[in-house]
Amino acid sequence: MIMNLAIIGFGNVGRAFARILLERKQDLEKRYGFQSKIKGIFELNGAFINEAGLNIKDIINLNPNEFEKHENWKSKVSANNLIPKLDIDIVVELTHTNIKTGEPGLSHIKTALNNGKHVITANKGPLALAFPEVQELAKKNNLYLRFEATTGGAIPVFHLAETALMGNKIISIKGILNGTSNFILTQMSRQNVPFSIALKEAQELGFAEADPSLDVDGIDAACKIVIIANSILKQNVTLSNVKIKGIRQITKDAIELAREDGYVIRHIASAENGKLEVSPRLVPENSTFAIEGTQNLIRFETDLAKEIYIIGRGAGGREATSAIISDLLYIHKKTQ
Ligand code: HSE
Repeated sequence: MIMNLAIIGFGNVGRAFARILLERKQDLEKRYGFQSKIKGIFELNGAFINEAGLNIKDIINLNPNEFEKHENWKSKVSANNLIPKLDIDIVVELTHTNIKTGEPGLSHIKTALNNGKHVITANKGPLALAFPEVQELAKKNNLYLRFEATTGGAIPVFHLAETALMGNKIISIKGILNGTSNFILTQMSRQNVPFSIALKEAQELGFAEADPSLDVDGIDAACKIVIIANSILKQNVTLSNVKIKGIRQITKDAIELAREDGYVIRHIASAENGKLEVSPRLVPENSTFAIEGTQNLIRFETDLAKEIYIIGRGAGGREATSAIISDLLYIHKKTQ
């Protein structure tokens, strides 16, 4: 069966996903029997639509000001209006995170799930604000809602928990879930760079959120621990349940003092003893948590396996695509 897809949001991740799906076409078919067609690509001001399948090669290199010239471009159509009418199996929702309302992603997800389409998303806002509601909607409609790319970028946190660790009781989960703040703390300590310069460097690397206060004030990491708590620890929580402290107050002096005692400061998110928290904490400099740069880390504490750590790249288009494709193949396998 060919899987018909629509992508909503054609930024860095959307483009990387479309490009890699094209590059891996033969490989995915040969290895998994996976075939797909992208029938729609939605942006804010319109969409590329072709029910016979879009020619992605034509589209991935266009600048937004060239969209209108493309024969499949339709101006001013919206995903919420069109998704119900298209013959689509999976909606891949990749619009920007909005932690105030979850929109426009939240409506896209609900529209898809109310109209018989599975959803894969990399968008943290809708899940951080309304995880129980959208999960229930997916369940009610017998659809899959997958979100591996929301948390830890390429790190397979949800797949690991639901497959390899499935016989374990997961007691707690702790991690470094925001690459930008970890990069800032590393630069402040290693290069003696002040906070503002380190933040600027992180923005230049392209990891920071469009509004970087989401990174440094701990909101981004809080969204991720909420998604983890709901999906892995089966807690019914939203962003308002997380105690959040950012890293703005961390001075070079504090970092220096910590270092003298053999510690580094890391921005840690935790789901432990029923409590969710994001805050800067002291960790021994030789601890696994003392990872550097933009990397992310997740530690599962379980009853049988005890501690399991996974470390990897927490951001980036290709890295997010690794996670999105794993969700795509998951749904493909489950629906054959
Ligand atoms: N701004 C996020 C980070 C991107 O720095 O980790 C990935 O969610």
